[in-house]
This record gives sequence, structure tokens and C-alpha cells, in this order.
Amino acid sequence: MIHIFLNKERIHLENKEKVPHPEKAVWTYVAFSIVWSLGANLHEDTRNMFGEFLRGQIRNHYHEFPDGDVFEYGINPTTHTLEQWTNQIPDFNYDPKINFFDILVPTNDTVKYKYLLKELIYHGYNVLFTGETGVGKSVIVKDFLMTSDERIEPAFVNFSGKTTCKNLQDAFEGSLDPKRKNLLAPKVLNTSMIFFIDDVNMPQLETYFAQPPCELLRQTIDQGGFYDVKKLLFKHVKDTKFIAACAPPGGGRNAVTPRLFRHFNMIWVPDLSSASMKTIFTAILKGNLDLKKGGGISIFAEYIVKASVDIYKTAIKEFLPTPTKCHYTFNLRDLSKVIQGMLMCSNDDIPDKEYLVYLYISETYRVFRDRLIDEKDREKFNIMSHEYLETHLTMDWNLADFQNTIFGDFETNERKYVKLSDSNELIPRLDELLMVYNSDADTQMNLVFFQDCIQHLARIARILRQQRGNAMLVGVGGSGRSSMAKLAASINSMSTFMIEITKSCRQKEWYEDIKKMLRKCGIDEETV
Ligand SMILES: Nc1ncnc2c1ncn2[C@@H]1O[C@H](COP(=O)(O)OP(=O)(O)OP(=O)(O)O)[C@@H](O)[C@H]1O
Ligand SMILES: [Mg+2]
Repeated sequence: MIHIFLNKERIHLENKEKVPHPEKAVWTYVAFSIVWSLGANLHEDTRNMFGEFLRGQIRNHYHEFPDGDVFEYGINPTTHTLEQWTNQIPDFNYDPKINFFDILVPTNDTVKYKYLLKELIYHGYNVLFTGETGVGKSVIVKDFLMTSDERIEPAFVNFSGKTTCKNLQDAFEGSLDPKRKNLLAPKVLNTSMIFFIDDVNMPQLETYFAQPPCELLRQTIDQGGFYDVKKLLFKHVKDTKFIAACAPPGGGRNAVTPRLFRHFNMIWVPDLSSASMKTIFTAILKGNLDLKKGGGISIFAEYIVKASVDIYKTAIKEFLPTPTKCHYTFNLRDLSKVIQGMLMCSNDDIPDKEYLVYLYISETYRVFRDRLIDEKDREKFNIMSHEYLETHLTMDWNLADFQNTIFGDFETNERKYVKLSDSNELIPRLDELLMVYNSDADTQMNLVFFQDCIQHLARIARILRQQRGNAMLVGVGGSGRSSMAKLAASINSMSTFMIEITKSCRQKEWYEDIKKMLRKCGIDEETV
């Protein structure tokens, strides 16, 4: 890394005006380079130890080396000194038009990793991000690629268990321009093609434990190209670099051969600190509430997010996955879903703090509590969330008031996402919706709506109206999963397509089903 910084084009050590203390400048760059080459791949548990050791060594030569976490220092390009990343965080402006999943709130982590990406990629290195699931690897890289200058042409490839060499080859050939029969290069002259390969360790192992797509990738980097097995010639790939991301092996992810990873600068992305989580979600929620005419309630965003982070942290600790509760796995995405859910309710429909808290609790219950399988766990969750709300929002409230609050958009034809009335008042409306369903369904459903059933319906309808809203309904037979799912889909003007997994169902049948379903959405333009 040192030569990225210490080269003539970047810094003229002889120029006393620009670099008054050349020795200090050299130490700054050396220290920074050591941290982000030798130390970059360290787990957060050992980063401190590494930092202390490094400080000891460097202070022997450069006494002013700063205190504190060495990973928290970036470089100030004008003074050539170390400076906390926090000083470089740009302001965030919430824009309601941006898709929720594309929002990246700048934090010291995003600033840090984007800076490293920029330096490494522009100097021709491949970069690999690793880190636990949901720490923001994909969002950081995507944001970097989408906001980089015209010198970079990005392309995105997602690996999965079933990715084959042919898929990767198609991706190369689809994104790069065939300059000659045996040469692929970026379309525009003097640009670099950057492939972002997400989940690079997903491909399944073949008989001899290799991962063919990873091998193809390795060959492309190692030998500057790959063999076209049809035309039987070697295709060179020019001006192309790679950014890869993956989480540690386990849960379908495999250990990748070091022969591939040696080509990458590896950077470990630690779990988000509570402070970063608070910054991110407060910025989004407050940004949204600030848009409310008359304002006033946005001050509660901070407290709501504080409570959410505490609930999330406790949920990770208290509700651990076991064989019977294997789906008790919570990550940052769940916290993000609570906020995404809150944004579904229009600001104009939130009159006061109390309503906002109702909305908040309802979303928290949907995301966290609906996953819990027994009364004991749910009770524990209720008490815990109650405690955190009392601490952070100083609300004097009764558990029972909030227990059965549900939000939904089907009470009126305006489809506003609001607090739903009491179950009994909802029944006539639901009967009406059921009639609509029955009027175009092949098989009629005859449902009696009672409280639990209405709640299930609202839960499914809520998920379906969300972007990336996928639901997995777990329960004993006959609990109404399929009928509620059908009705909820009909409420959201979606049609349903059922894939039944039987004993004789093989891959071929599965593909046929998928084809049929995709035709429905693609050709018939139905939301399925
Ligand atoms: N700085 C941020 N600003 C806004 N949202 C963020 C930020 N960092 C993380 N997130 C949220 O965290 C979620 C997970 O991020 P991302 O998908 O990048 O994780 P990942 O590290 O790629 O995980 P995986 O290994 O599972 O692919 C995103 O949905 C995003 O909403
Ligand atoms: Mg990812």
C-alpha cells in the first residue's frame, strides 16, 4: 500500500511549502499503510491489540503518533497528517424519492471503506470485503461504484450456490466489449471495468471440492483471461478489476481457495457499532419525520431508534437459535425493516407522539415478535420492549394497550397505511374483501374472521405491500396459512401461484413452475 501514497505524483517531499515536515508525512503514510494492509483483515476483537503494538513500534520513531484506535484514523490530504474519519463524514440529506434500499447514510465506516476502495481500485488492486452478514458490505461497494467518476465502469455479478462457469463467462462477455476475436475490454477507452462479485464464496463445491466459478475468476486474474471452450481460443481480458464481498464460511458459504484470495486486498468489515446504527437509522427516520408539515414529532426519532437498537441487541442475546427455533437469527436487516415499516405510514397520518409510538411498537412486534414461536418468548419480548420504551420515551403506558395494535392499509379504499380499528369493526370490510376475492377465484373461500385471523391477515398483507417483502409462514396444519396468504395477496391486487412440493418433484418440475410463474409476471404483467 505504501507506494500508493509515497510516489512522486502524489507527494513532493522536497516541496517545503506543501510538505513542511516530510519525515512526519512519511510516517503518517507508512502507519496508515501498515494498518490497512497488515491489519485490515483482523477481526474487531484483535484490532486493539494490533493497534497497541503498532503504536509502540511507531512511537520509537515518530513521537506524535496519536492515541486511540488506529483504525479510526484517516489521512488529511492537505496536511499529510492522521485525522479521525469522523471529521470527514459528509452531511446526509434525506430524500424521500430515493428507494429505501439505496439509502446509504454516511458514517465513519462508510467513509473509511469507500476511501480505501477508491485508493486501492484506482491504483489497480482487487479488493475483497469480508464481514458478518448484514454489516453493509454490499451497500458500501454499490454506493462507491454508483457514485464514482467516469474512469470506472461498474458491473454487478451475484454468486449463488448454483452459479456456473458459464454464468460468469456470460457476465464477462455481456459487460465487456469484444475488441478483437480474442480480446475483451471496457467499452470506453481509458476506463476500467470493475466487477463487483457479491457472495463470492457461495458456489457449491464440485466432486473434487473445487468451486468452478471461483477457479474461472482466479484464472482471469492470474492469466489475464480465460478459454472460450466453444471457439477454442484464449480470450484476454483487459483493464478489468474486481471487488468481491463475502461473509465467513458456514450456512451454505464455503471456504474459498487461498489461490484466489491472494489476488485481493482483504478488508474485514466489523459489526456495526451501536453508535453507527443509531446514526444511520436516526438520520433516516428523523429525515422522514422532518418532512411533516408543522413538524414537532421528529425529536422522538432519536429516542425511538435508541430503543430499537437496545431491543435488537437484547433480542440477539436472548433469543438464540436452537434446533426447534432455528429461525431465531436476527441481523441488522431486521432493525432496518422496523424503520422501513415506519416509513410506510405517511407523515400526515401521524398526529402525535402517541400514534408514532403505536406505529413503532407495531412495526417492532411485526419484525421481531412475530418470529417467536411460543407464549413464553413473546411474553419475554413484551416485557423487554416495554422496559426500553419506558426508559427511552418516558411513556407511561400499559402493555395491554399495545399488544394487539395492528397497522394495515385495507380498511379504506384509499389504501393508507394506518392503525386499524378494532377487530369487530373490521369484519364487514373484510367480508367485502373476501367477496372480491371469491368473485374471481376458481375455488371459493368461506372464512369467518376472528381476532387472530385478522391479525394474521394484516401481518401478511403488510409484508406483501413492502418492497422485498417475502414471508415465510410457519405453523401447524390448518391454521389458515394458505387461505390468509391468498386473501392478503388479493387485497394487494396480486395473484397467487402455488408451487406444491411433492415426492416426485425434481429440479425439472421446479424449473417448469418457475417458468410458468415468470411468464405470468413478465408477459401477463401480473404481480404474483
Ligand atoms: N450506512 C448505512 N446506511 C444505510 N443503511 C445501511 C448502512 N449500513 C448498513 N445498512 C443496512 O444494512 C442492511 C444490510 O447491508 P448489506 O446488504 O450491505 O449487508 P452485507 O454485509 O452485504 O450482508 P450479506 O453478507 O448478508 O450480504 C441493508 O439493508 C442496509 O439497509
Ligand atoms: Mg451482501
